[in-house]
Amino acid sequence: KNLVITVDGPSGAGKGTLCYALAKKLGFALLDSGAIYRVTALAALKKQVPLDDEAALANLARHLDVEFLPEDNEVKIILEGEDVSRQIRTQEVAEAASKVAVFPQVRAALLQLQQSFANEKGLIADGRDMGTVVFPDAQVKLFLDASAEERAKRRYKQLQTKGISGNFAQILAEIEERDFRDRNRPIAPLKPAEDALLLDSTELSIEEVIAQALDYIRQ
Ligand code: CDP
Repeated sequence: KNLVITVDGPSGAGKGTLCYALAKKLGFALLDSGAIYRVTALAALKKQVPLDDEAALANLARHLDVEFLPEDNEVKIILEGEDVSRQIRTQEVAEAASKVAVFPQVRAALLQLQQSFANEKGLIADGRDMGTVVFPDAQVKLFLDASAEERAKRRYKQLQTKGISGNFAQILAEIEERDFRDRNRPIAPLKPAEDALLLDSTELSIEEVIAQALDYIRQ
């Protein structure tokens, strides 16, 4: 059976960095499920599909013309032939993704696409519902959390390194708003799978988080 390791948790907990490091160390493929929700949201924005029209959004999700091209240090994301790897990372798309992700029909439409990433060499699945819904039989499940303040601090620093000066209070408010939506939606709410290891990274460096995760995986 294909080996799958799931990593779930809220925005800014450090999942992306952890998953990238784990995939590299273990030689596994990487599923960035958030990117799939972001691409769906970007497609909706481009086609002017209203972000509250569940049926239209689900239809869009079912017929997504998207490709994931693994390169040396990143995965290129191609939507209808266009490289949208940068476009999907904007704040506007993040917010739209969080709105689109509340709809059961949209989540159902994206399920198979996410599951198709499982393969013989192993998969690290990064998201909100990887261990609870998409890969309930995964052999290893992690849930990475951190306080909202710490997560906002990290986002703020991340923006700074990109030369963007964000507003801390605004970043914190956005994180809390997206958390609320993720935790309170009708299906696949953000929560740890019963058999997940909880890792709180509030007081840990990224190296410490990676070391703890690897220890647990190798047990
Ligand atoms: O980068 P960040 O952690 O803020 O977000 P992301 O992982 O790229 O995901 C974007 C949005 O998609 C999140 O705010 C979630 O609402 C949604 N999402 C989801 O509902 N389920 C997933 N498995 C992954 C993302």
